[in-house]
Amino acid sequence: MSWQSLRPEWGLVLGSGLGSFVERMEIFASVPYSEIAGLPQSSVPGHAGRFVFGKIGTTTVVAAQGRVHLYEGKSAAEVTAGVRWMQSLGVQRLVLTNAAGTCNPAFSPGSWMMLNDHLNLTHTTPLLGGANFFDMSEVYSKTLRARFSKVAAELGTTLHEGVYAGLLGPQYETPAEVRMLRTLGADAVGMSTVLEAIQARALGMEVAGFSCLTNWAAGLHPGTLGHAEVLETGKAAAAQLAAVLERAL
Ligand code: HPA
Repeated sequence: MSWQSLRPEWGLVLGSGLGSFVERMEIFASVPYSEIAGLPQSSVPGHAGRFVFGKIGTTTVVAAQGRVHLYEGKSAAEVTAGVRWMQSLGVQRLVLTNAAGTCNPAFSPGSWMMLNDHLNLTHTTPLLGGANFFDMSEVYSKTLRARFSKVAAELGTTLHEGVYAGLLGPQYETPAEVRMLRTLGADAVGMSTVLEAIQARALGMEVAGFSCLTNWAAGLHPGTLGHAEVLETGKAAAAQLAAVLERAL
């Protein structure tokens, strides 16, 4: 089936280690980012760099397997190109996923947090360049949140809710920075998602966001942080969120 004839209503962005999510989909087509004009490529291990079209349950979706980040030296416009492309296909609801460190002592690594708000600490935005005074009072749809919470409860899956702080990276945070983030009201910290969410809302899409809490943020636990740990925990947790989405979509 040619992907041009598919009209997915839902879009998904799969974060670090969460690419295996597509194994739960009935796949129709796969399009490398390199084949789409204007889409930048990711240089991060664990980010494949293609759109996968398929079905989750009975719903047609397009999943971005791998994303580009500001810390790769990309601009806010480049980071959000995939969101605009999905919107041009007709996508109206977007599920953003990411790997994140937990800075809430009550949210353990290995569990999922649904975003109820964010702190954009990247000091940039895809809306730069004009008087784009978009309302951001409900970035993450209340209606979608209620739907996902209900399904997670039915499945017995722990789904925390909290605030995601999006930082530039690429280095992980210092313990002092994590204490600052907790003071600011963050429950999880990562290096993606916020710009995509802003872009999607500006285009009128409904947005949901999920953080796979792959590790304690720096200083919350003894030890150091590494990307391998992030990928491994993400892989193990992907199936849990896949089950929730399968039922909720
Ligand atoms: N900090 C920032 N980004 C992350 C982390 C973290 O602890 N874990 C996974 N992505």
